[in-house]
Amino acid sequence: MGGGSIAAKDGVYPCRRALWSHRRRALCDTRRHPCDSENSVVAQSAQAPVALVTGAARRVGAAIARRLHAGGAQVALHYRESEAAARQLADELDALRAGSAAVFRADLLDVDALPALVSAVVARFGRLDALVNNASSFYPTAVGETGLEAWEDLMGSNLRAPYFLMQAAAPHLAEAGGSVVNIVDIHAERPLPGYPVYSAAKAGLFGLTRAMAIELAPRVRVNGVSPGAILWPDDGQFPDREREAIVAHTLLKRAGHPDDIAGAVRYLLFDAPYVTGQILAVDAGRSAHL
Ligand SMILES: NC(=O)c1ccc[n+]([C@@H]2O[C@H](COP(=O)([O-])OP(=O)(O)OC[C@H]3O[C@@H](n4cnc5c(N)ncnc54)[C@H](OP(=O)(O)O)[C@@H]3O)[C@@H](O)[C@H]2O)c1
Repeated sequence: MGGGSIAAKDGVYPCRRALWSHRRRALCDTRRHPCDSENSVVAQSAQAPVALVTGAARRVGAAIARRLHAGGAQVALHYRESEAAARQLADELDALRAGSAAVFRADLLDVDALPALVSAVVARFGRLDALVNNASSFYPTAVGETGLEAWEDLMGSNLRAPYFLMQAAAPHLAEAGGSVVNIVDIHAERPLPGYPVYSAAKAGLFGLTRAMAIELAPRVRVNGVSPGAILWPDDGQFPDREREAIVAHTLLKRAGHPDDIAGAVRYLLFDAPYVTGQILAVDAGRSAHL
């Protein structure tokens, strides 16, 4: 695991929306929402909120990291295997605001690595305001052929790691008045045929999100985002005909974009001070009639 080597540096960032609600209350009159000006400028320094995004190197995780960074956050980009992509993203974000991004490697199946990841982020940035549990493994498991390794991998990445990361992050989030978003799945509530272990792991994460909202209140809010069909897996798990059927089943008749998820995450972290224990489906209405 390695934090970025660039020290935090004073600078500016463009939007007060970037600030968490508690910080916004201190700086703005929330009734009049003076923060609405996209051109307002706030000094960035150790004061800028810090968000840890797991599985941030590629795909949905990278979109979340970009969106939070665009809102003014400093971002801790976690990865396991996608080192080159993680470093490239950190360089891209650092070029926009020096010292605002750093990469951290960890295998989330290694339980000891989870508090170590949180400690490394806090050591690098000095604070932690947001945790986004996005990393996930995803593949089918046929009943009768499922081995312990697949069970441990799917449960470990989708359920156990989010719990132990929340546990480790909780004191830092409480200090900052921060927030968690867990990336769930619409199939947490209606299992995806052929994927019983993955579906059960996400169902666990759905329940855990609500349970942790209770456990970490009132200082820390915990919410979830449940994506529908956003990005097809790289490994061709869904043949074209299946993809077309899934998209046809959405109310809006189209697949989503990683930015759809990123926008929802940003809302729940930055702009939803009175929301906790909720799981927001971002799925073009598919779960309304699954
Ligand atoms: N894509 C969709 O349409 C969709 C639909 C429903 C739900 N979701 C949920 O949305 C989130 C993001 O989706 P996605 O498709 O972008 O995810 P993804 O590409 O399948 O996986 C994201 C990252 O998770 C990391 N990861 C997996 N196992 C790990 C482990 N044991 N330790 C550390 N990192 C691990 C990998 O990082 P490295 O590459 O660095 O190894 C991977 O790049 C996931 O939680 C997923 O379940 C997505």
